[in-house]
Amino acid sequence: MQKTGAIGVFDSGVGGLSVLRHIRDVLPNEKLIYVADSGHVPYGEKSREYIEARSHLLTHFLRQQGADAIVIACNTASAAAVTSLRSQFSIPIIAMEPAVKPAVTASRNGIVGVLATTGTLASARFAALLERYAGDGEIITQGCPGLVEQVEKGELNSAYTRALIEKYTTPLLARGVDTIILGCTHYPFLASVIADVVSSNIALVDTGAAVARQLQKRMQAELPARVSGMAAAHFFTSGDEVHASRIMSILWGENVAVQRLPQAFL
Ligand code: DGL
Repeated sequence: MQKTGAIGVFDSGVGGLSVLRHIRDVLPNEKLIYVADSGHVPYGEKSREYIEARSHLLTHFLRQQGADAIVIACNTASAAAVTSLRSQFSIPIIAMEPAVKPAVTASRNGIVGVLATTGTLASARFAALLERYAGDGEIITQGCPGLVEQVEKGELNSAYTRALIEKYTTPLLARGVDTIILGCTHYPFLASVIADVVSSNIALVDTGAAVARQLQKRMQAELPARVSGMAAAHFFTSGDEVHASRIMSILWGENVAVQRLPQAFL
């Protein structure tokens, strides 16, 4: 039987839009509901318990809105909350992780840098990922405090953003990386500045497209076929909706009117 449904996507803020655009490309007929938890950004400096609680609340909201599949479009929230979300919600929940395996495979010299939040890098999930996929590769990690906030402000190419990128990539370059993983969903919006700073022969690896394909596979396998023609995208924030509408319109590439989350979810 055909049914309607929606894909619920959340992030600590606007970064998950870098994943949402891949989801729209792969599943153009789906209804998309996106929550930017910008009232609580950055997750990268918060405790696991805090992020887990926010992730549960936002997933409840997305379920209420009709989502029958969830994408945690945030590496930090995935590391902190995916296990408990999957134990509580019996729908497809797609998580993200820094693309260690593809980066190690793609690297010519086996030296790979990871830019991510301190929360992601300190997580047990990231340690397990390295254990499983680093192989003979040399993985050099770099936390990037402050970078998420620059994207939230819409400062994608300011002098300060560029200075932060220089600060965080210099140690990776000094160790000889030829591949850099963008291990936070905010960073693809900085990819052109990062590429400019690190030089063109260093490959930047992002997981957004792979996550969208994974979502598509899970939906085909686990959810009934949809009524087509439901395509739409709805945007919510726990932050200021005027600011969010401005920034998210730029990042999404078309004008969007972002709604504030209901009080119970703030
Ligand atoms: N986009 C989130 C991620 O992928 C950013 C986390 C944060 O808010 O610090 O990790």
